[in-house]
Amino acid sequence: MKIAVAGTGYVGLVTGVVFADLGNEVACVDIDPVKVDAINKGQSPIYEPGLDEMLQRNLEEERIRATTDLEGATRETEVIFICVGTPPTDTGEPDLRYVDEAAATIGRALNGYKIIVNKSTVPVGTGDRVRRIIEQHRAEPHEFDVVSNPEFLREGSAIHDTLNPDRIVIGADNARAAMKIVELYAPLERPMLITNLATAEIIKYASNTFLALKISYINAIADLCERTGADVVQVAKAMGYDQRIGHAFLQAGLGFGGSCFPKDVQAFMHTVQRYQLDPTLYQQILAINNARPVQMVERVRERLGGLEGRTVGLLGLAFKPNTDDIREARALELIKLLLQAGATVKAYDPVAMPRVQPLHPEVVYCRNAYEVAENADALVLVTEWNEFRQLNFERIRNAMRQPNLFDGRNLYDPQRMRKLGFYYYGVGRAADNGEFKAML
Ligand code: UDX
Repeated sequence: MKIAVAGTGYVGLVTGVVFADLGNEVACVDIDPVKVDAINKGQSPIYEPGLDEMLQRNLEEERIRATTDLEGATRETEVIFICVGTPPTDTGEPDLRYVDEAAATIGRALNGYKIIVNKSTVPVGTGDRVRRIIEQHRAEPHEFDVVSNPEFLREGSAIHDTLNPDRIVIGADNARAAMKIVELYAPLERPMLITNLATAEIIKYASNTFLALKISYINAIADLCERTGADVVQVAKAMGYDQRIGHAFLQAGLGFGGSCFPKDVQAFMHTVQRYQLDPTLYQQILAINNARPVQMVERVRERLGGLEGRTVGLLGLAFKPNTDDIREARALELIKLLLQAGATVKAYDPVAMPRVQPLHPEVVYCRNAYEVAENADALVLVTEWNEFRQLNFERIRNAMRQPNLFDGRNLYDPQRMRKLGFYYYGVGRAADNGEFKAML
């Protein structure tokens, strides 16, 4: 099939490359000529494991190319994916400007039947909006259909997630359009759900908001555990064995960041308000999450008896491991709070440092975790990169001015860390259950 993909961000580029790899002919379109050039040279503008190799293979086999010309790409293809950004505005509502622009361009270029598939995360009703814009801009009354096909990929495992999605959601108003998209996804042999447009649009937000809710929920439980001498890791583990609950997304810690969850919960909150429904649930998800870094800095402050003149080291800056993405990263919030309180901040991240440096030149960037530990009064584990799992903790402890370890992701075994001579704080892990553990 001949496909055009408008937007070469995480979703667009990965979708384009995977469709090419499945044997389709793909035109990746972006307004930024620098990105287009890079893609045509086989260099992905984003860091995603496996993406460069897959891109290069498909460039060599001439199944993919990048262009700035959306009109031309629309004329040559039958299915056009819209994967442009929908950044939040000041109010938290998504800015649909780029979706609108793409729709208008596609409308102008309409030269036969086309299916316009929206993959950008957009509020319910946007499919209808895209349809109206295309109608307004088309020069001749060619037929077209609008489909909603939300994307659930995670950064860091985007290729794997795109090839092995838990489900494929296709929201369409008629069978003709839906079946064409079913055909496109058929090689993946994954469960497909065909719904109307509004349902598909809500599925995306409802799913992401639920995952964010799980994280905020376990963090609220963590606070209670801390005050009562319980251990949230064990609480979550036991909860997770209930198949109705499941283990995923119950890791208490510094909370969620990234380009999706904070923005999607906000946007969903605006949608429910637009339909005169109560936004309290969504406000609470965000309020609990926003309090996480503040609480962590409080714990460090209490332990050190103030932060003025102290040195605090951060292990990890990216919003999660295996990405250089720092959007809404908890580390940025921690840096801000620590600097405001007069602390010196040192940090190390395997890939995200160049992204943080321009925002915070005052932070001391280090070559590894050991350098961060040197003369630090406290270390905070922010991102659970694999390389932080098996550090030489004796070396870390000896390098520090005071061996205070604050584990923002509950990565380490509290018993072990305490035996090694650290003051250890894990989120929601007030209990020292070592004795019981030894019995099991
Ligand atoms: C998310 C969704 O998972 C994906 O389906 C959607 O398409 C886009 O948003 P992503 O933003 O890449 O993907 O990150 P994800 O791996 O889901 O993690 C989000 C954040 O939640 C990270 O900051 C992570 O550290 C945090 N998190 C996750 C927790 O704090 N606790 C958990 O138990 C799980």
